[in-house]
Amino acid sequence: MMQLTIDGQVLDAKEDMTILELANRQGIYIPQLCYHPALSNFGACRICIVEIEKDGKTKIEAACTYPAEEGVVVRTNSPRLQDLRKTILELLIARCPEVMVLKDIARKLGIKPGGMPVMDQDKKRCILCGKCVRVCKEVIRKSAVSFVYRGNERKVSAPFDMQSEDCIGCTSCSFICPAWAIKVETHKDQKYLVPWKTAVDLAHCTECGVSYIPQKVKSYLMKGKPGIPEDYQTLCPDCRRKHTGERVLRKGQNFWRHL
Ligand code: FES
Repeated sequence: MMQLTIDGQVLDAKEDMTILELANRQGIYIPQLCYHPALSNFGACRICIVEIEKDGKTKIEAACTYPAEEGVVVRTNSPRLQDLRKTILELLIARCPEVMVLKDIARKLGIKPGGMPVMDQDKKRCILCGKCVRVCKEVIRKSAVSFVYRGNERKVSAPFDMQSEDCIGCTSCSFICPAWAIKVETHKDQKYLVPWKTAVDLAHCTECGVSYIPQKVKSYLMKGKPGIPEDYQTLCPDCRRKHTGERVLRKGQNFWRHL
């Protein structure tokens, strides 16, 4: 345990905490885009910058990558930070003018963006936070997508911008994306992850025939788990529920019959 100060509050922190984790725990608002508690810290968006005062010197650091340290004084909303954050946010909005999460942060911080011209007329939605890349690599362990190109061309893509063989169609990337940039469409027998140009086949329920889960996700979930009941391997959730209900009913009837 150690003690440090954030915005005048003296707080206890654990050894392996970052400033952002501590602030989040205490309910101290620091805007954040690329941070997620289930993923490694990336420090990409810089919107979480804070002022750190240590040994008589002050520096600006990303709160999500800076470890809690004994005795440091942290400020989350000084005039200098407000200025820097405004610039960072304006740059992000110039790239992605229609992304709601950026507008929400601007509203919360009382920033009226508009100081920078829109950089890209095709109005990108990806804010390059890298959450999709990290969830695929660190949680799903597939690494189906990664960052490609540099500068204004930088984006997330499947290798060679083509159908990914590694993508299983779990759509965790779409789920975690704060900008809603990863569109997923369902066509009859396939799920299509639009930005990755990747289609995955859906498995069908053996009873009602509905397509309900990507085939690769099913294999991924079943892998190394022998003994999963037949129902779970072949039936959609609705048919499984129906079978379970029928089983429970049969057991109930037998129970009453023997009373
Ligand atoms: S949340 Fe810290 S750099 Fe993005």
